[in-house]
Amino acid sequence: MKVVIVGPGAMGCLFAGYFVKKKQHDVWILDKNARRAKRLKENGIRIDSDKGSFSVKINATASVSDIKSPDLVILCVKSYDTEDVLKTIEPALTKDSRVLTLQNGLGNMEIMNEIVGPERVLGGVTAHGATLLGEGYTRHAGRGDTVIGNMSGKLTVSMRPVRELFNLSGFATRLTKDVNSIIWSKLTINVGINAISAITRLQNGALIESEGTREVVSMAVTEAARLAKRKRIKLIYDDPIQKVESVCRATASNLSSMLQDVLKKRKTEIDYINGAIVRQAKSLGILTPTNVILTDLVKSIEFAYSKQA
Ligand code: PAF
Repeated sequence: MKVVIVGPGAMGCLFAGYFVKKKQHDVWILDKNARRAKRLKENGIRIDSDKGSFSVKINATASVSDIKSPDLVILCVKSYDTEDVLKTIEPALTKDSRVLTLQNGLGNMEIMNEIVGPERVLGGVTAHGATLLGEGYTRHAGRGDTVIGNMSGKLTVSMRPVRELFNLSGFATRLTKDVNSIIWSKLTINVGINAISAITRLQNGALIESEGTREVVSMAVTEAARLAKRKRIKLIYDDPIQKVESVCRATASNLSSMLQDVLKKRKTEIDYINGAIVRQAKSLGILTPTNVILTDLVKSIEFAYSKQA
């Protein structure tokens, strides 16, 4: 199986590292930065976790011609890059290639459907947390389930090898017929964690240790859960606040992806997470004041990058 991971960030390196270690598939990383791809090829990937540390060699390239006819492409880029990446890789795909998103936020599968066609699109979520410590060097900071499905709601034969790849590489994975509910369930978790950690610079675990942030987490999550209910989307857990708190504990030492972004003064995925809640709620006439404030504050942090000395 030829597997191409697009993006050498924390999650991209995490998947690539374990796939190579456990399965020795033909695994590639596609990086838009040719110099970094060359260094990744020379230096490989290192993964640290509470179980120890390991390094593997990796095929890395910036050239789409190297990743021709992949069986599986996994998008590990930020949501705002999804469209450009798909346009770049589309010519390399065959009709049997599958493209999987496990990205945070809303809207990625819809963009994928438009560019590569729904029959090739898989979507889902992962509860694994990872922190990029350096180029090709990632810390596995939290474990959880990975769930994959497609928009048609039918479990197809082509999904099985994908599930097997993840399971055999140590990522407990199942298939679902209701990917939308899975994506909203993960979105609600990101709504509770990402912006608040980016604003306060707290690790996930600390978010629920301080009374103040714990309260804001609960307010943001309640708004998202109410919106899901109004849209008749069933979350996969009964108590969204309890769920988010349990993810905070399970990924306690992780810096959320949005906190990692602001620490590096990078654009965040706020528009696809809290911002998506605000937009969708507004179109239904629902107020989401906590998410409005969180969105505005994170956007102000992005604005401040250029103003800081
Ligand atoms: O975006 C993230 O950081 C992750 O989705 C999660 C689960 C919040 C863990 O940090």
